[in-house]
Amino acid sequence: MKILIKSGRVIDPANNVDDIRDILIDNTRIARVGKGLNNGADKTIDAAGKIVMPGLIDMHVHLREPGREDKETIATGTQAALHGGVTTVLAMPNTIPAIDSAENARLIASIIRDTARIQVLVCGAITKGRLGEELVDLARLKKEGIAAISDDGSSVDSPDILFKAMKKARELRIPVICHCEDKTMSAGGVMNLGANSTRLGLRGISNESEYKRVQRDLSIAQRTKCSVHIAHISCAESVEIVAKAKKKGVKVTCETAPHYFSLTEEAVLDYDTNKKMNPPLRTAGDRDAVRQGLADGVIDVIASDHAPHTVAEKEIEFDRAEFGVTGLETEFGVSATYLVHTGLLDWAGLCRKMALNPARILGIDKGTLSAGSDADIVIVDPDAEWAVKIADFASKSRNSCFLNERLKGKVIKTIYRGTVAYSAD
Ligand code: DOR
Ligand code: ZN
Repeated sequence: MKILIKSGRVIDPANNVDDIRDILIDNTRIARVGKGLNNGADKTIDAAGKIVMPGLIDMHVHLREPGREDKETIATGTQAALHGGVTTVLAMPNTIPAIDSAENARLIASIIRDTARIQVLVCGAITKGRLGEELVDLARLKKEGIAAISDDGSSVDSPDILFKAMKKARELRIPVICHCEDKTMSAGGVMNLGANSTRLGLRGISNESEYKRVQRDLSIAQRTKCSVHIAHISCAESVEIVAKAKKKGVKVTCETAPHYFSLTEEAVLDYDTNKKMNPPLRTAGDRDAVRQGLADGVIDVIASDHAPHTVAEKEIEFDRAEFGVTGLETEFGVSATYLVHTGLLDWAGLCRKMALNPARILGIDKGTLSAGSDADIVIVDPDAEWAVKIADFASKSRNSCFLNERLKGKVIKTIYRGTVAYSAD
């Protein structure tokens, strides 16, 4: 099967392309990218007025399977990804059981093989049961194909265990993803610490509980020379600490999530549990620092931290509700609205944060539209406005923090390995 994508504005920063081009797909791969292609395709997609980019790569998602299939499954989560223009995800290991052994890695790999609609890479745990006590067998996990390690949801409290993990990970060339939170400071907290948490009578989570842990993890990364990636940065100090570490030559990359550059703690003033996540929404100053970090290149990646929860877990008192929001289906629209249409990033910049950089960090041959690469492609309408509606979600859960929000920039088609796997019309 040959598909010709005609006359789209092709954005491919890996090849320095931002130009009107045609793309010829032959079976599962990109055969040619050029002008005036007309090679007897079986099907033509008119992309005039649209942007054509590499399929998005979301390196921070919770798919909940195995264990919490009532929140999400690999089938529903990857369908949600297709709706969002995402063709590769990295699935976090806080499943039940956690991905902390060869056996559990094989279990999730078999579910992926049978039900995933896109490429699902698996993040293994750093410690057994993610309890921070006993290191997993990294060499075995690597043999089972895990792409990175993280105890996401928790930080590894023991500097000694983290040091050993990073040493081994460096040897095996596995990236380490750090969830930075010092629970001795954040325990019991449910929103950002400050005047608003005091006024609402809710326990706060300080910036310090995040950035002190960023600082510690980066000093261990520096000593071990391990490549580390800091997950979901939410506050100004963390951005500054990562910027300094990069200048010193520490092998660090980092990500933020769309809610941290679009919303502030004001969003929880009415106790909306769909605005509750960990780390929490911060102040306008923090949001602006995250925006600036994205614009300057200190923040390498935008990832959703897609964290589905059931209605029962969210429609309860604010301080008892689960932490986390869904994000696969809105991350492109939110990023386009708040970063590109505001002039903070151009389309190539967005493509770097949402495809090229994650591919490079994970060491996969994706995130580009080079001839010969997998035909994972997203076609977007840069100016189409749309409203986020529960009825349109493919995710099993509906705990989005952007419900009913109007966004500008819409996914029109998602092509996975040469097949049109999602079409908005
Ligand atoms: O808000 C969050 N939800 N933060 C995390 O670190 C974990 C995640 C989840 O798994 O629900
Ligand atoms: Zn996390």
